[in-house]
Amino acid sequence: MSTILIKNGEIFTGVEHFRGSILVKDGKIEFVSKETLSEDLAEEIIDAKGFPVFPGGIDPHVHMHLPTAAGYSADDFYSASKAALSGGTTTLIDFVTPQKGQSLQEALSERKKEAENALTDFSFHMSLVEWRDSLPDEIKAIKEEEGISSFKVYMAYKDTVGLGDEDLRKVLKAVADAGGMVTVHAEIGDEITALRKKFLAEGKTAPEFHPLSRPDWVEAQAVEKIIDFAREAECPLYIVHVSTEASLKYIIQAQKQNQKLYAETCPQYLLLDDDKYQGRFEETAPFVLSPPLRKKSNNKALWLALNEETIVSLGTDHCPFNRIQKEAGKNDFTKIANGIGGVEHRLTLLYTYGVLEGKLTMNEFVNLVSTNPAKIFGLYPQKGSIAVGSDADLVIWNPDKENTISVNNHVSNSNLEAYEGFETRGAPKYVFLRGQITVENGKLTNHKLKGEFLKRS
Ligand code: URP
Ligand code: ZN
Ligand code: ZN
Repeated sequence: MSTILIKNGEIFTGVEHFRGSILVKDGKIEFVSKETLSEDLAEEIIDAKGFPVFPGGIDPHVHMHLPTAAGYSADDFYSASKAALSGGTTTLIDFVTPQKGQSLQEALSERKKEAENALTDFSFHMSLVEWRDSLPDEIKAIKEEEGISSFKVYMAYKDTVGLGDEDLRKVLKAVADAGGMVTVHAEIGDEITALRKKFLAEGKTAPEFHPLSRPDWVEAQAVEKIIDFAREAECPLYIVHVSTEASLKYIIQAQKQNQKLYAETCPQYLLLDDDKYQGRFEETAPFVLSPPLRKKSNNKALWLALNEETIVSLGTDHCPFNRIQKEAGKNDFTKIANGIGGVEHRLTLLYTYGVLEGKLTMNEFVNLVSTNPAKIFGLYPQKGSIAVGSDADLVIWNPDKENTISVNNHVSNSNLEAYEGFETRGAPKYVFLRGQITVENGKLTNHKLKGEFLKRS
């Protein structure tokens, strides 16, 4: 394996910024220095003058090859990880979703096979879709033996993977006892079911009724409830895809009381809004995702929440579909395949609309896209860090590279693009995964390096 010297970079971590050099050897960071290092140390030298250098992105919320009633989501681990790398994300945390009755271990083994063609490193959150008495032991074993330390629960989707209140409490207790963390999709499933039924009975079948069937209070009530349950169980909690201002007050309140509670949002909730549901089916169905897009005022509140560190992590909930899968709900919005993509755009969107617009510093940017997810999910300092001994997952960022996002130039397999027409500035010049250059000027250059399954603490 070659030794690479990255010199003259503007090095950013979650807390620091300095001009310096990074020596990469055998996949790890061998040396970091504010001094100029001797070029004799390296076989390859990259001059990063004027370019920010930061740890590779970690997207803590993605769904690859997700089975749904409308077929699998459009990206498998290969296509999505290629998209991720091209945008500067080197680690993905996806999900294992066991069948009812299936052991956690068996479901994990199956999912690992599906991820064999990933080009990024990866881990999984383990979804807990039912209660059974063997679960506490299974949770402990999967955590200790496989390094799966986060466990996902759904308060929505109660006809498939969602849990009722009693099971939620039991799961929180079991995960707390195992020393793990619960991650939660917070929307009150029963309220959604009732609203969907009502709209369909009234002949209201268009995509515009999707957000109306999942109003912001449905999320906020769920957030309030699960925070209470987690506090009672003394279980660390991570709330995924917070989409609305209405949820924030409960999160802030609990954080003020020192509850171990982390919140995530996604680019779509910062940059898109419910105007997308006005128009013809073809225009609106692509924006059916859950939680839905909200009124514009929520975008502003969420940016502020990032700034104030109420929300500390940016995932994408990458789950794109193809147009034909959205059309499955032509006569019934509840049958539209749920989700959008974004894994390749996460960094450039946050950089363009956050850093360049003065809403975030570069350190906050690094924390949101890399260091905080690494810390929260037990990957730090192997990932999310520029320090001696860390994996050399690095992004050398061209701050001047401009792009207009389009379905015609994105990497994802999907023939839909939620951020169509968004102008961006800033993109990876080089992306390193474990010391090897995988992407140069947005193009995958290394097709041989395989992603590795990461055991987390
Ligand atoms: O619409 C979405 N987000 N689909 C993926 C599943 C989920 O709820 O995260
Ligand atoms: Zn969700
Ligand atoms: Zn999700």
